[in-house]
Amino acid sequence: MEIPASAFDEIIKELERRPLEVNKYRIKTGEGRSQAFGVVGRRNLAPDYSRQCWKRPELYKHLLDFAEKYVDISYNAITLNQNYRTLPHYDKHNIGDSYLVSFGDFLGGDLILHTDNMLEYIDIRHTPMKADFSKILHSTESFEGNRYSLVFYQFHLPNKPVNLPSPSVRIENGEYKFYRGKEWIKKNVGISHNLKKKKE
Ligand SMILES: [Fe+2]
Repeated sequence: MEIPASAFDEIIKELERRPLEVNKYRIKTGEGRSQAFGVVGRRNLAPDYSRQCWKRPELYKHLLDFAEKYVDISYNAITLNQNYRTLPHYDKHNIGDSYLVSFGDFLGGDLILHTDNMLEYIDIRHTPMKADFSKILHSTESFEGNRYSLVFYQFHLPNKPVNLPSPSVRIENGEYKFYRGKEWIKKNVGISHNLKKKKE
């Protein structure tokens, strides 16, 4: 299924207004502009919503709106990449098929699947691919221009079941607000957790 280019307009506009922060923790895949929204692991704490959700609620809303229209797998997490070329890697912490799609104005930038000493180049621009990328070694072909990609997946850690209230972003008085269930997560406060409380 090909997705119309216009479906990505709001996401691109928001990323051009304010690029993603560089993520220094993508050790295996290479440093770059790549951030996770939705459920993430938090070291020795239980998985919970990423700080990106309340730091960039407008962007998160555009991702959720996109998913509602076009994403046909169940997911609780989203990785967004901006001009980020990944080295060959297996995804981690997902279960089942992920949904991967690229967009933007770029040359090259195919998804490369590394199988049995063969390289398979797949053009995923506006054309999502669904597969379990924890089982397929994959990377990004070099590219010129602005390449964005989105990965929707089910975040999963063994022994750490995810059972969180649903996320939503509401616009109230012209402000984008991230809700964790019924709880509004304020930008300057974030999600409270046990370690913080102990220190107080
Ligand atoms: Fe990946």
